[in-house]
Amino acid sequence: MDRHLAIIGGSGLYQIDGMEEAAWRSVESPFGTPSDEILTGRLGAVRLSFLPRHGRGHVHSPTDVPYRANIDALKRIGVTDVVSVSACGSFREEMAPGDFVIVDPFIDRTFAREKSFFGSGCVAHVSLAEPVCPELSTTARAAAEAAGVRVHDCGTYLAMEGPQFSTLAESRMYRAWGCDVIGMTNMPEAKLAREAELCYASVAMITDYDSWHPEHGAVEITQIIETLKGNAEAARSMVTGIARALSEKPSCEAGCDRALEHAVMTAPEKR
Ligand code: ADE
Repeated sequence: MDRHLAIIGGSGLYQIDGMEEAAWRSVESPFGTPSDEILTGRLGAVRLSFLPRHGRGHVHSPTDVPYRANIDALKRIGVTDVVSVSACGSFREEMAPGDFVIVDPFIDRTFAREKSFFGSGCVAHVSLAEPVCPELSTTARAAAEAAGVRVHDCGTYLAMEGPQFSTLAESRMYRAWGCDVIGMTNMPEAKLAREAELCYASVAMITDYDSWHPEHGAVEITQIIETLKGNAEAARSMVTGIARALSEKPSCEAGCDRALEHAVMTAPEKR
């Protein structure tokens, strides 16, 4: 099967240059209406789709993003690989604003979101021991580096509910836990992508030092937007690089497309 790459872009990445046959397409899902229409087209030999996570005009808060509808809609249009691009705070001095971090793993501290496609009627327990696709993450890393960004491997991502930023005490606690970056949207997105048997990788674009850093003070949205604007060109170039790399590799060997193989508990006649 040909690969179909989807970018779920957060703040700062609302379009992809150079897409051919690009058209915004409305896709409905039994899990609701996605954040926005999906921009679908091609980039070279690869099918490419783009879904603005917060919607054009930034209308969905992190809690209200329809995560299940988004992932289900991407699956329905034939997406095989999802790359999340999102703004994040940093808990490490060396992961500075402007740097990219290839996320792996996650700690999920969100509490007000639907987190599974499964539930009463059909129960399944997928493994999240390795929550991202190693092959797609490696591809994203190489493409980010080629785009001229400083890239860090394997940052632990703390997913918080938001929409407020962390208190100083929380920020210090997450640092003490060994977290590297913080954001509000990668969970439950990564869990749902696994349940949907999609390859998922996440690129954190560092925009701030959260609130722990004595020399940087509290997080401010203006600072986040400035950093994202400075990164926009590199992010677009990274997306092009990922698409080019996938066009040369027709399938993923990591097994993300078999995540449900031994996961469904409910007997076939009861489903
Ligand atoms: N997104 C960007 N910076 C963030 C931070 N410090 N905390 C949570 N989400 C963020």
